Amino acid sequence: MATADRAESVPHHGTVSRDVFTTRLGVITATLGSAVGLGNIWKFPYLAGANGGAAFIIVYLLCTLVVGLPVMITEHVIGRTARGDAIASLKKLAPGKSWWLIGASGILASFLIMAFYTEVAAWVFAYIVKAIQGAVLSTDPAVTEAAFAELVTSPVQSLVWQWIVLAFIAFIIALGVSKGIERMTKRLMPALFAILIIVVIRSVTLPGAAQGLEFLLKPDFSKVTGATVLTALGLSFFKLSVGMGTMITYGSYFLDDQDIPATATRVMLSDVLVSALAGLAVFPAVFAFGFQPESGPSLLFITIPAVFSSMPFGQIFMILFFVLTAIAATGAMLSLFEVPVAYLAGTLNWDRKKATVAVLIGLAVVGSTAALSNSLLADVVFPGIGTFFDLWDYLTSNILLPVGGLFLCLFAGWVLKWDKLKTWLTNNGNLDNQGIIRAFYLVVKYVTPPLVLIILLSGLNLF
Ligand code: PFF
Repeated sequence: MATADRAESVPHHGTVSRDVFTTRLGVITATLGSAVGLGNIWKFPYLAGANGGAAFIIVYLLCTLVVGLPVMITEHVIGRTARGDAIASLKKLAPGKSWWLIGASGILASFLIMAFYTEVAAWVFAYIVKAIQGAVLSTDPAVTEAAFAELVTSPVQSLVWQWIVLAFIAFIIALGVSKGIERMTKRLMPALFAILIIVVIRSVTLPGAAQGLEFLLKPDFSKVTGATVLTALGLSFFKLSVGMGTMITYGSYFLDDQDIPATATRVMLSDVLVSALAGLAVFPAVFAFGFQPESGPSLLFITIPAVFSSMPFGQIFMILFFVLTAIAATGAMLSLFEVPVAYLAGTLNWDRKKATVAVLIGLAVVGSTAALSNSLLADVVFPGIGTFFDLWDYLTSNILLPVGGLFLCLFAGWVLKWDKLKTWLTNNGNLDNQGIIRAFYLVVKYVTPPLVLIILLSGLNLF
């Protein structure tokens, strides 16, 4: 690792110092920290189970190779080359053109994702405390459901927990890129793997675990339909945190000699591994105690407490499980929070602490609409979408992320062109990865854009 270490700040444009990631490991833990999130725990495993087990995992890997991964590489190379925030990077690479609007849409998207993501994270943090207190220790899903309803319908609890989460993330962000994000994720990611493995061992060694293993892993290609492929394509966006400038922003902190395609591929594979392990931590136990597999909030906050309450020393495993989920959500939120902060501190030249406080206040205001979606604002319903919480989710997942991804690919494939990309992705010819880059270029130019267009149209119910 010695060669990868370097000074904490590199000179930027000759005058201003930019805080960046200082080690290769830090680049990986921060980027993987962004990809790994709630999606690995409540989305991916259930989708895999319901859509053909290992068959879905294979389909997802293929979809990621042609959609999520090329967009991630594109974002990293844009950020690393331009060394700016989401808007500044695009302005620098395409001066006088409108491509910076992708960055603007990205900043908006990360802000809006934070608005609802922090509320789910708020419930997770609240559940660590509830698990410690034994407040959700019941094998009866009706009881755990009532406990969850009590939390989400309380405006005070929803808001306070969201503020706690926001303040925690803002505190790390204010410490800086290397001393905050990098240092934190370097500690958190190994902890995440360690806890995950402990819970997996507990879950798969329970009597009756086999059924859960079968649900998650037994390949059943008959369940793979067009809709499954579409789900996997869309999932690869949210999962890999692409389409909203997060990876441009993180890319701008990468080392000059970082091998971008290799880094992105490692992150993508590790992320799938975390999803598979999360499935192994949950579903064998779910089946062993005769519960129904679910996804989303009902899996996390209703079924899982009941499942863990059913096993010996279940409270300890429940605490570990929610700590693990909180860690996953933290890495994702750090990357989302960093996008607007990087813009305010970069393009607008604000002091980083001031930028952090401004974003914190903005998120507390907009986020409160999501926090109150089950209580004071429950009656505000957007036709065909749902509450504010659903609105932010819909706008980002169905519109902003695919639009951002589509234009990023068009930018990489049709504006930047092969010669530049080759120079940047081989680190000025220092890496022997031309074959991989060639494949990436062809995919990003011809294959990814139509596929992203299909995701976009299907998200808008037009396909
Ligand atoms: N990748 C995260 C997850 O799977 O939960 C979610 C996410 C994080 C999306 C960061 C977007 C982002 F910028």
